[in-house]
Amino acid sequence: MRTTNYDLENPFNFPPIQLDRLHWFSKESLGDIPVVDMQKLNSKEELTAFINEVLEKKIFCIENHGIEEYLIEELLNVHRAFFSLSEEEKAKFVPPDMKIDVAGYKGFKKGSVAKVSGTGESFDQLMQYVFSVHNTDVTYPNETFGRVCKLYTEKVTALIRLLLEKLFDALQLIPSDFTYTKEVQEFFLEKGFTRNMTLLYPAVEQDEDARERMTSHYDTSLITILYQIPTLGKFSEDPYIGFELEEEGERIPIPPVRGTFLVNFGELIHHLTNGVVEANYHGVRIPTEEELPESERMTIVSFYFPDPQTKLKLSKIKGSISYNAIQNGDLKEGQEVTLEVLRKAMFKKYFTY
Ligand SMILES: [Fe+2]
Repeated sequence: MRTTNYDLENPFNFPPIQLDRLHWFSKESLGDIPVVDMQKLNSKEELTAFINEVLEKKIFCIENHGIEEYLIEELLNVHRAFFSLSEEEKAKFVPPDMKIDVAGYKGFKKGSVAKVSGTGESFDQLMQYVFSVHNTDVTYPNETFGRVCKLYTEKVTALIRLLLEKLFDALQLIPSDFTYTKEVQEFFLEKGFTRNMTLLYPAVEQDEDARERMTSHYDTSLITILYQIPTLGKFSEDPYIGFELEEEGERIPIPPVRGTFLVNFGELIHHLTNGVVEANYHGVRIPTEEELPESERMTIVSFYFPDPQTKLKLSKIKGSISYNAIQNGDLKEGQEVTLEVLRKAMFKKYFTY
């Protein structure tokens, strides 16, 4: 029998986990979702195969990425310990005001991707901790927490920059009007930054009006890399998979595979490449009643953004937040805007600056 780290009696107690003891999915269970080996993106042939594959699927996994498992495990566990504290304790780390680039804790069902995306009113069935933001001092709950977050941020930022460099190189090998200029290199690679957070979906009753645990959306980043762990709880032959890609009305579950990160293309890379790289639409499914006791799930999400002064020409991405801003007249299709202006227009209803 599989031993679990999940506390059935108290779903808001999150004991430490060991990645070694989780019930991971096999690589084969990813079906036709590509798994890209980061060490094999060197030759022209490798890069061409890579770009064709990822453009077709709009989503992919990476392996041999160089981020050590012990660091990921430690990062997850410092957050699990924090999430297990009383709400009163955790409240000390709730940011004082609603700013878009702000670090700290957001309690269970306090955020709503649906509201921000303009697709509904339901709350996300999760709690989160944003542990790194651009150009902002962060107060961490304790020293170890801070050390682990800083180290992870450093490593994940380097990884994403490397991945982007390969992606930009590969884009030069196929027909596209994207040019890998010095400006792209400066503003998108050297001056780019990550915004990192952990998300924890506890195995408790979901809101009735929530159609999804996290409403489907496009990421507002350039790209996002996401580390997901298998759900905790009792062993099942057919465990609950949360993350789903939505493609032409079809929902494709993407299981957690050990040693891999999932990569999403966000709205900004769609704008940058004039739609050659398409943003993907994804969300997190609600567990069924049978799945609920074993549905506790965690992810570490790293959103990558270029320098705020970067200029982008706006494409039309139906259903995205930038498209909403085009529809309500705050932005125009084809308009050239800085990332700063774009983000203000996209989030003006929800965040102050
Ligand atoms: Fe997302």
